[in-house]
Amino acid sequence: MRDRRRQHGASDPCGPPPKRRSAVWWYLTSRLQRRLFFAFGAVILVTGLVASVVTGLLSERGGWRAQRVRLERFAGARFAEVWHDPGDRARLAASVADELRMRVELRDTAGATLLLRAPVGVAATRCPRPTLRARVAAPGGAVVGEARFCSVDPSWGGGRTALLVLAVLAVIWRMAGGIARRMARPLDDLVEVVRDIGDGRLDRRARLPTHGRSELGLLARVVNDMAARIEAQVAAQRELLAAVSHELRSPLARVRFLLETARDDGADAGARAAAISEVEDELVGIDALVGDLLASSRMDFQALQRVRLDATEVASRALSKAGVDLAALDAPDEVLTIVGDATLLTTALVNLIGNAQRHGGGVRALRVRRVGSLVRFEVEDPGGGIPDDELPRIFEPFYRGAGAGRRAGAGLGLALVRRIAASHGGEVWAANLSGGGGACVGFSVACEAQSAGVASPQR
Ligand SMILES: Nc1ncnc2c1ncn2[C@@H]1O[C@H](COP(=O)(O)OP(=O)(O)OP(=O)(O)O)[C@@H](O)[C@H]1O
Ligand SMILES: [Mg+2]
Repeated sequence: MRDRRRQHGASDPCGPPPKRRSAVWWYLTSRLQRRLFFAFGAVILVTGLVASVVTGLLSERGGWRAQRVRLERFAGARFAEVWHDPGDRARLAASVADELRMRVELRDTAGATLLLRAPVGVAATRCPRPTLRARVAAPGGAVVGEARFCSVDPSWGGGRTALLVLAVLAVIWRMAGGIARRMARPLDDLVEVVRDIGDGRLDRRARLPTHGRSELGLLARVVNDMAARIEAQVAAQRELLAAVSHELRSPLARVRFLLETARDDGADAGARAAAISEVEDELVGIDALVGDLLASSRMDFQALQRVRLDATEVASRALSKAGVDLAALDAPDEVLTIVGDATLLTTALVNLIGNAQRHGGGVRALRVRRVGSLVRFEVEDPGGGIPDDELPRIFEPFYRGAGAGRRAGAGLGLALVRRIAASHGGEVWAANLSGGGGACVGFSVACEAQSAGVASPQR
């Protein structure tokens, strides 16, 4: 509740005053893609600036500036050799202008131009802002003049610099935008998918990113799994509702018919008694079905009431409830303590006993055993067993074997047993007995030590 209030921006009168943020700040940070874009742009820009500053600092010591100084010294020395011979000096200037493709201007110590040379095809003009500037000194060290060298190609003006800055900004814009879009798009997709699922489109799935093992891939997988589970659960609930409605209509119609028979003035006392007894049977069936549904929804709502139980006591209570002689109970003398929901475990056992009575000709034994960290409950019957091809399917919801015929039932009993076993840390099994025939169907429950960890309230 607190969080929701905070999300909607409601202020907490007792909390610290909220920070004031400008509209620009909100614009920059309100969307992840925009945030990433500006963050990446800033990082690239700062990196570029730092790199150029560092390059400048380093070149101050030993980079291109030092090289320029050496070049200037070399040129000064070459011109010093021929300074006093105008012919040689002019030839050297012409050769330097051609070789280096630079305009050359030689000046005397007073700054007057002595000579101008330029590469072939270029006008020889003065060189007010030289690229290289070499002092020419006589052997004694006295400065006799200056050689200036200017680039022939147009120099970097303000326009070119602006163009360069624009180009750099455009590249940063595209790069930062591309990265931000790539990173934010899967999240946007996920938000859309989750919103659709919330709106009831349960078949919607998130597209898995190419890097399926990334955090986003994991998130997409989790969302897809969640959607698949919800879809399956909703489908199962719908199927259950349809099946239960169908299962309830037949006995209810029969009850109505039986009541009309009993109410019929022409019916004798015997026929009325038989009709009432049949009504009772139908009501028992309806009660069992509703009981199974209630048990199932208790598990759906995680409303298990776990308490410490004696497994043998649970088994004998189930036998009594199903009206079976306690002599069928085969349990050890030691107390087998389990932690579980007494009502659900009894329901599971009553279902197994009911199956043995309805499909297997009665209960031969209800066995309780401890095997490792599990307590196993098993019901054996003397019937014809379960066909081998049906064995893998009998725990599926609504599955009824061919032998069930027209006997009442929805095919939910064993599915419920499986859910109850799973919620108690156990599993189910079914097998046909060799030799004497009959089936053996059972489930296990984790012993006290194991299931205690998952226990909620204990009495
Ligand atoms: N002891 C058994 N002997 C032979 N077949 C069995 C036995 N127990 C279960 N089955 C078969 O497994 C099927 C599924 O059992 P399940 O308890 O889920 O449904 P049901 O008994 O038919 O109906 P419901 O329990 O919902 O009233 C049964 O229809 C039956 O064919
Ligand atoms: Mg059953």
